[in-house]
Amino acid sequence: MKPEERLIVALDVPSLNEVERLVYELSDLCYFFKVGPGLFIKYGPKIIEFLKEKEKKVFLDLKLNDIPNTTSLAMEEIVSLGVDMTTVHILGGKAMLEAVSLKKKNTIALGVSVLTSLNDDDLRMMGFSLGLKEIILNLANLAKGYLNGIVCSPSEAGAVKDACGKDFFVVCPGIRLDDIQDDQKRKQTPDFAIKSGCDYIIVGRPIIKSSSPSDTAKRIIKMISQAS
Ligand code: C5P
Repeated sequence: MKPEERLIVALDVPSLNEVERLVYELSDLCYFFKVGPGLFIKYGPKIIEFLKEKEKKVFLDLKLNDIPNTTSLAMEEIVSLGVDMTTVHILGGKAMLEAVSLKKKNTIALGVSVLTSLNDDDLRMMGFSLGLKEIILNLANLAKGYLNGIVCSPSEAGAVKDACGKDFFVVCPGIRLDDIQDDQKRKQTPDFAIKSGCDYIIVGRPIIKSSSPSDTAKRIIKMISQAS
């Protein structure tokens, strides 16, 4: 994969106008764009069609988490949209993952392990007694039988690759260029992520809130290239 193909830009903006502005500005630089629940609830399949018309790869990140029957129905609809990548929560359990795996066809189905906005303290508060890394490795091993890869932070990427093999995709959000405080608690730089074994990095606010999204995207692609 070329360095630029490993960058997924999260389009976490509230309007189609802003999506158009970003996709236009990043058009020659970025190939892969992620649509979250906000945009999809507002615009539905229209937003996917727009990106496909622009010949972009599309990651529809709805993080499904429901009983097997309901999730399987949703997955069937997602696949019918022709998106390249999508997500379900691994915590939906084995039967749900099995139901999803029967529907995923050519769409890369990733399992969300533990959100990068959570740390060990959050997990303890929710009643989990194992450490974060151990939980993520358990979830990765469970997902491996049914999905194409997982979403985790760069700090766990190497351990997941070692446990699940190089063909199991590791996709990492929580990417930051500077040490700023926000909702992401497990964060790393693009070069750390690539050196740790991430196949793709997901970057939202560092690019979309930047005064020059194209300059920031160029900087990140250069870091991916140097770390590869
Ligand atoms: O703005 P920022 O770079 O933090 O965006 C990260 C993106 O990755 C968001 O769209 C978020 O929904 C997504 N994501 C995440 N943590 C996960 C899975 C997806 O932050 N575990």
